[in-house]
Amino acid sequence: MQLKNLETYRHFKKSKRLSVKWDSYFSVYDKIFKQYKNKKIKVVEVGVANGGSLFIWRKLFGKKAKIIGVDANPISKKMRKYGFKIYLGDQSDPNFWKKFFKKEGKIDIILDDGGHKNLQQISTVHYALPYINNGGLIVVEDMASSYIKKEFYNPSKFSFANFCNKIVEFINYRSGAINKQMNIYSKKIYSIEFFESIAVLKIDSTKCIKSKPISNNIKDPALNEMRSSFHFIRARENIKNLIPFLKNSKVYNKIERKLFYKNRILNFKENLIIKKIYRNIK
Ligand SMILES: C[S@@+](CC[C@H](N)C(=O)[O-])C[C@H]1O[C@@H](n2cnc3c(N)ncnc32)[C@H](O)[C@@H]1O
Repeated sequence: MQLKNLETYRHFKKSKRLSVKWDSYFSVYDKIFKQYKNKKIKVVEVGVANGGSLFIWRKLFGKKAKIIGVDANPISKKMRKYGFKIYLGDQSDPNFWKKFFKKEGKIDIILDDGGHKNLQQISTVHYALPYINNGGLIVVEDMASSYIKKEFYNPSKFSFANFCNKIVEFINYRSGAINKQMNIYSKKIYSIEFFESIAVLKIDSTKCIKSKPISNNIKDPALNEMRSSFHFIRARENIKNLIPFLKNSKVYNKIERKLFYKNRILNFKENLIIKKIYRNIK
């Protein structure tokens, strides 16, 4: 992949002001932002600094898009003279976001290139989420900070990467296979995608449905799922099918318990193999 073939890279190179980016980001920007070009959308960038990246977004999204910057450093105000709307504030301050969204209303894309600390990245997601239109994105850059000790005190239980694990969990709360209450994360985040150092959350509440099993009703015999050791499952099925009257009897319960413990041991052995697989990742 040649950088010069990437549109966002070309805009970056031509930007009127300084911007420092990781070179791996441009292929991601081209891919995730493609569908939003020349649309009447609101794009917010947290972390303006000298303003170099604001010009990338203006060029990429086109004239119909409104590009808004947020930064804690008053120096970013100078970007107002180029027509950008700049808000001064701390991205980890809930009151800042409250005032921001009261003024701006709903937005389509928020890109976090601010302070990269755990609370800062998590706050952007948490406080912006209710205000992202369906079809929109929350993009968090520099999540490599989740693995950096200096300044970021990571890896840690409270890292942004671990917060993303929590989001994965909330997305899976939509599964009808588990009995979990959906929260705003389950109800709004359709998917989460990871690139190197970049997390992309796709927002679409219309697709965030509680799933249920459906069938095409073809009359084929039900199959053994073959998940666990075959003979355990078969033994259980045989007991249920052949001697149903034994169900809930002492004998049946004893066999069930035995199968349960055998499967537990099997699971433990499988975990040891998984550990080995992890160790073998070179
Ligand atoms: C990496 S720079 C942004 C670079 C810019 N996006 C570009 O590519 O040209 C990070 C910016 O985040 C701002 N920042 C750091 N902590 C912040 C916070 N808590 N709230 C808002 N902005 C913050 C800094 O002032 C700095 O200007």
